[in-house]
Amino acid sequence: MERTFAIIKPDAVARHLAGDILKRIEASGLRVVGLRLTQLSRADAESFYAVHKERPFYGSLCDYMTSGPVIVAVLAGEGAIKRWRDLMGATDPAKAAAGTIRKDFGQNVEQNATHGSDAPETAAQEIAFFFRGLELLP
Ligand code: RTP
Ligand code: MG
Repeated sequence: MERTFAIIKPDAVARHLAGDILKRIEASGLRVVGLRLTQLSRADAESFYAVHKERPFYGSLCDYMTSGPVIVAVLAGEGAIKRWRDLMGATDPAKAAAGTIRKDFGQNVEQNATHGSDAPETAAQEIAFFFRGLELLP
């Protein structure tokens, strides 16, 4: 059983797409074991996306991620990391496969509706960044 970390990003929450996105997660068979509505501070966003701090889009990405409420979630299931990335689709909605969340709900390469961890190490770090162990279902 694997765990991954998901964010329904500010653009998707603002456009009332959270229900549709959670519905796709549930339909996929992934289990939601942690869930919370929150808003990132500048420091939170800078720290969460520190891996991208040398990239030209870092400042804009942090502006975007702090622009409104987000929903943070922990998803569990066999192969959860890849399954969630597959449900999301490619980073750029224009390049994402038909039927994926980013294709259907993303607006552009930055405002792309959702986040998903990319590896077991980053999943563990990202889950710990947002949730205490007690807040997660076993
Ligand atoms: P994420 O981490 O959010 O799940 O997305 P990802 O792995 O598919 O993409 P990543 O390369 O990690 O980029 C993180 C987020 O930065 C924004 N971005 N903007 N302007 C640009 O060229 C650009 N490239 C990436 C997106 O919001 C992307 O999800
Ligand atoms: Mg990434």
